[in-house]
Amino acid sequence: MRTIISAAEMKAAGQAERAAGRSVGLVPTMGALHDGHLSLVRACRERADVVVVSLFVNPIQFGPNEDFTRYPRDLERDAGLLREAGAHILFAPEAAEMYPAGFRTRVEIEGLQDKLCGASRPGHFRGVCTVVLKLFHLVEPAVAVFGQKDAQQAIILKRMTRDLDLGLVIDVRPIVRETDGLAMSSRNAYLSPKERAAALVLSRALGEVRAAVRQGTLDAAVLKARMASILAAEPLARVDYAAIVDPEGLDPVAEVRAGDLVALAVHIGRTRLIDNWVVDSKG
Ligand code: PAF
Repeated sequence: MRTIISAAEMKAAGQAERAAGRSVGLVPTMGALHDGHLSLVRACRERADVVVVSLFVNPIQFGPNEDFTRYPRDLERDAGLLREAGAHILFAPEAAEMYPAGFRTRVEIEGLQDKLCGASRPGHFRGVCTVVLKLFHLVEPAVAVFGQKDAQQAIILKRMTRDLDLGLVIDVRPIVRETDGLAMSSRNAYLSPKERAAALVLSRALGEVRAAVRQGTLDAAVLKARMASILAAEPLARVDYAAIVDPEGLDPVAEVRAGDLVALAVHIGRTRLIDNWVVDSKG
């Protein structure tokens, strides 16, 4: 695996691979890798000859009171995991490489970026879209692989790709869970043992909704009330949102249909966790 830190070198490496007739795939990450990320790398290997993994803790997608400075960083460990998973290029630029002095451009996805996570994290998706578009231009992948855990991010990036005719495939892969149901996340590392146990309330609430939908309860108000009561019973949980929305506009639905998104964001202590279930998916 080759490690690249310069944007110009990354651009040239992608061009050389394509000129040699090899397709390029991209897995964008912020590092602190877990099995969820590695499943994306493996998925990318199935779809492209050359797998590029970007590792960049993107400052512009964090709010002023968020965890940018304490976000876990361990490049050596991550590089080892990526090598084992079969990545070919690790692109790990410094912030000054991605945002040189005078950088002023931002990408906005109107109507989607301010809902759900965007409501409590203003500017978050603007930062995500800006960095991902920049990565797409540097790497020029035929396919980019993202995780379903960040469901709103995946929906927004698909929209950006369509709206801007980027001509690549966005492949969204299922959430990878711990054996007890907790969705894997780099932020799980922040949880104390007590909080780790409390965090199971997210997958429990989604599991209850899934069971209720499968038994024929489709009234979103009833399902949301059920989620709310499960979440309220966990003393360490503070709910940001528990929503059931359509997957196109992310607007609340009255009656759930296949493809709708049941999404949660819950603070467990100081850690904000997200999880979701797409109605009728196996999940
Ligand atoms: O999902 C993430 O880890 C980040 O939001 C991404 C897509 C790598 C952009 O910084």
